Parts: sequence; structure tokens; C-alpha cells
Amino acid sequence: MPYDLEDRVVLITGASSGIGRACAVEYHRAGCRIVATARSLDKLEALAAELGGERIVPVVMDVTDPVEREIALRVAHERFGHIDILVNNAGWASFTSILRMPEEHLDRMLALNFAAPIALIRAVLPEMLERGSGQIVNISSVVGYQTIPRMTVYSATKAALTSLTTGLRMELKGTGVDVLLVAPGSTDTPFFQVAATVDARAERVARTKYSPQRVARAVVHSSRRRRREVTLTAEGKLITLIRRFSHRAADAIMCRVARSAMPAVKPTGECP
Ligand SMILES: NC(=O)c1ccc[n+]([C@@H]2O[C@H](COP(=O)([O-])OP(=O)(O)OC[C@H]3O[C@@H](n4cnc5c(N)ncnc54)[C@H](OP(=O)(O)O)[C@@H]3O)[C@@H](O)[C@H]2O)c1
Repeated sequence: MPYDLEDRVVLITGASSGIGRACAVEYHRAGCRIVATARSLDKLEALAAELGGERIVPVVMDVTDPVEREIALRVAHERFGHIDILVNNAGWASFTSILRMPEEHLDRMLALNFAAPIALIRAVLPEMLERGSGQIVNISSVVGYQTIPRMTVYSATKAALTSLTTGLRMELKGTGVDVLLVAPGSTDTPFFQVAATVDARAERVARTKYSPQRVARAVVHSSRRRRREVTLTAEGKLITLIRRFSHRAADAIMCRVARSAMPAVKPTGECP
């Protein structure tokens, strides 16, 4: 049975930009009510103005802040009564080796990419279980399947989110709550400009980039079809396939990609 999206309440993190913003537009188009969250109120208000009407509410939330999480969830419930779909999308990366990674970048990635989705899942799951219906959508990454050097810690946070999503799906089997893992490949968003550059820079890590709209269409389609996983971009699918047959070959490809796509600003010695 497909999941009827009409009138569903969708809370999206990182809805001010890129994939999260496009997901807000696409779920809204599918008839959902949207709780659009991020730190940038001006961008959320611009999104709400663009979509218009009563089916979207912009809510400021730094997902790493427990107080802001609690307030945002309260606002969502006051406005729409409950949450049907949680989209854990907010994320950030720092490009550098493990050794050179500043402590605060490490903490920020762990808090934002991994701990915050767990906290939000734990906050909304009881009400979903009570209703016997709901969806958790986690936006991970292809690098959650196959690490790319100079993005090793970012990849590891995505691998952790991927693993969490798989475990959650098993824990929730038969409860009526669906779990969807989304693994985008390179997507044309401000992600690479917003990322911290310590000793490597990158504008892209693949030859082709999907538009965030294309990713969002796949997310909403998979949500409606109750899919378990969706991996995006041909290159993204290819590297996960290669890895299934040879970890050595996949590592060699990712080293080459890192060398060409993320030239070291300072010599780092990795990936000779
Ligand atoms: N772009 C790619 O190539 C790619 C590939 C694979 C996976 N992904 C993943 O896709 C997701 C979306 O990324 P994107 O490409 O759309 O990047 P983006 O355009 O930079 O968007 C990131 C979003 O996260 C929000 N955010 C950052 N820190 C936050 C915080 N502390 N609290 C709440 N929101 C926060 C930002 O909003 P504010 O700054 O307003 O808070 C923004 O809306 C991320 O999880 C990313 O890891 C991206």
C-alpha cells in the first residue's frame, strides 16, 4: 500500500537551502503541511512566501540545541497537532584529514550530522508508534557507503547515520512506522561553499551533479512508495556497486577523486 501524502505533516531540518528546501517544495506540492526548520529565519520566510497559504510554517531551530529542538517541536504541534514525517536533512562538512581536523569541526559534525537526528527521532517516535503510522527519512550520503579521503570524518558521520537508519528500520518492523534512507551523490547546492576548508578545497567530487529538485522528487516518490533506500546519481550508484565487489578498487577510485577534486591547499601527505 502506498503512503498517502495528502495532508501529512512533514518536519524538515535544513529547509532553508539545497536539498531540504527542495524537499519542502516537493512535499508541499504533494499536498503535505510543512514545518520548515533551519537557523536562517529570513530564508525560511522567503520559502513560506514563495509557497504561500497556510500549509507551511517556518520555525527557527538549530538542531544541535536541545532547547531550540523542544521549542520547534512544540510550535509544530501547536500549529498542526502532530508530525507524520520527520526529514533529518541538515548537515555540514569540513574538508581535511583526521589529523588536521580542528576539534570544533569534529564536534560540530558529530552533533549536527549524527546526534541531532537521533535526538529528533527519539522525540517524534513515541507519537508515531502510538498512531501506528509515520515516516523517518534520513538524508545520508553515498560517502556513508564508501568513504572519501579528506572528507573522512564527514563520511564517518554519514556512515553512522546510515547504520542507525538500518537498525531503526529493523527495530520498527511491523509498527507501521517506515524508515527511508536517502544517499545522495554530488548535488548542486551551496554545500561545498558552506563547507569548511582547512587544507583542502572542493567544488565538486563528481563529474555530474544532480539538482536538489531531482533529489527531492526521488525522496518524495520513495516516501510515497514506502521505499527502504534510495541512492542517487549514476556515479554514486556505480561506486557502491564497485565496492560490493572490491573494496580495494573502490578505495583507489576515491583516492583518485579526492586528489583531483579536493586539491590540498597545503601538502598533507595523504593519498600518495
Ligand atoms: N550537496 C551534496 O553534494 C550532498 C551529497 C550527499 C549528501 N548531502 C547531504 O544532504 C543534506 C543537505 O545538504 P545540502 O547539499 O542541501 O547543503 P546546504 O545547501 O548547505 O544545506 C544545509 C542545510 O542545513 C542547515 N543547517 C546547517 N547547520 C544547521 C544547524 N546547526 N541547525 C539546523 N540547520 C542547520 C542549513 O540551514 P541554516 O544555515 O539556515 O541553519 C541548510 O538549510 C546534508 O545532510 C548533506 O550532508 C549533500
